[in-house]
Amino acid sequence: MSLPEAVRWSADGRAVVILDQSRLPEEERYVSLSTAEAVAEAIASMRVRGAPAIGIAAALGLALELSRSTALAPEAFWQRLDHATLRLRGTRPTAVNLTWALERLRGVAEQNRARTNGEVACAVYGEATAILEEDRAMCRRIGEHGLSLFPEGELRVLTHCNAGALATGGMGTALAPVYLAHAAGRSVHVYVGETRPLLQGSRITAWELQRAGIPVTLIADSVAGFVMQARKVDAVMVGADRIAANGDVANKIGTYTLAVLARHHGLPFYVAAPTSTIDPGMPSGREIPIEERSADEVRRGFGRLTAPESVPVYAPAFDVTPAQLVTAIITDRCVLQPPYAKTLRAVGEVGRELVPAGGVRESGSGSGSGSGAGA
Ligand code: MRU
Repeated sequence: MSLPEAVRWSADGRAVVILDQSRLPEEERYVSLSTAEAVAEAIASMRVRGAPAIGIAAALGLALELSRSTALAPEAFWQRLDHATLRLRGTRPTAVNLTWALERLRGVAEQNRARTNGEVACAVYGEATAILEEDRAMCRRIGEHGLSLFPEGELRVLTHCNAGALATGGMGTALAPVYLAHAAGRSVHVYVGETRPLLQGSRITAWELQRAGIPVTLIADSVAGFVMQARKVDAVMVGADRIAANGDVANKIGTYTLAVLARHHGLPFYVAAPTSTIDPGMPSGREIPIEERSADEVRRGFGRLTAPESVPVYAPAFDVTPAQLVTAIITDRCVLQPPYAKTLRAVGEVGRELVPAGGVRESGSGSGSGSGAGA
C-alpha cells in the first residue's frame, strides 16, 4: 500500500520534507524546510496539518535547528532551543501533540545538559526521529485495534476532516482501519464531509483515499444526517486533536454535530488517536484551548468572496465532543470504552506502561494484542 508522507527527513537528513497540503488536490508538491522558523510557518499556514503530523514536524524542525546551531556558545545554543521551542509551540494551540513532542525533546536535551552542543543536538535529533517512527507504528496498531470493532462484512464509515496518512507519520488514525481492511481484501466504503471552511475532507481525504484505490464518496457537510438516516454508513470514525482526562474530545469543527447525529441514529461514534493525543493534565473539554481562524477563511474561501465583505464571522477551527457521545476511543494500545476517566489516565501517561484497569478492553477479542507500545 503506497500512501503519501506528510512529513519526513530529507535523504541527507539536513531538511524536513513536507507535502504541501495547501496545494492539494491540484498539485502533489513536496517542500524542503531547513530551519525551525520555516517549519513553524508551514504549521501555522497549515501546509502541514493534523495533530500527529504537526507534532512530528515541530520535533524534526527543532532537531534541525539545534543541529545547525552547534557552533554557538553554550548559552546562545540553549537560547536558540528556547526560542525555537516557543515559536513552534505558538503556531497552533489545540492539538496537544505539538506540546507533547516539544516537551519530549526538551526532556532529552535537559538529560544531556552537561554535554557538548553537538551531543545535545545529536540526542535531540535521535528523539525526534523516534517520534516519527513511533507514530508510524502507532497508526498501524490503531488500525488493527479499530478493525477489531468491525469483525466482518463491508466496512462503511463516515469520516470528517483528514485523519489519514496526511495527518500523521503513518497510515493515519481514523483511516487506518480502512486501509488495513482494504489491504486484507475486504470491501470498504468511506463517506467524507467536505469539512468547511478549509475543505480538508474534500481536498485531502478524498484525494488520499482515491490515490490508494479506496471507494470514497464526498458529501457536503450538511448531508451527513441524511446519509445516516439512509443507513449508508455503519459508524462514524474520526480523529482527535486532544482528548481530555474525562474523555471529552477536541477535533475539527463539525465533529460534535456528527456525534449528536450518530447518537440520534443509533450509530457508533468512534474516535481514533495515538496516546500522544491524550492530555491527562486537561481535566475536561471545557479547558481545551480552541483555535480561532481568520474570518476570511469563511468569507472568501480560496479567494472568492462568498459573504458580505464586512459580515462578522465566528470561526472556531475545532469543537469538543462530550465523552458521553463517544462509543469508544481507539488508541495504539487498546480500545477504551466508557467510562474513560480511569483508563485514559493509565493509557495517557505517554512513555509509561499501560496499567490494565477496569474498562480497558484489549483488542483482538481479548487476546492481549493491544498491550505494549505499537511496533
Ligand atoms: O486543522 P487541521 O486540519 O489540522 O485539523 C485536523 C483534525 O482535526 C484531525 O481530525 C485531527 O488532527 C486528527 S489527525 C489524525
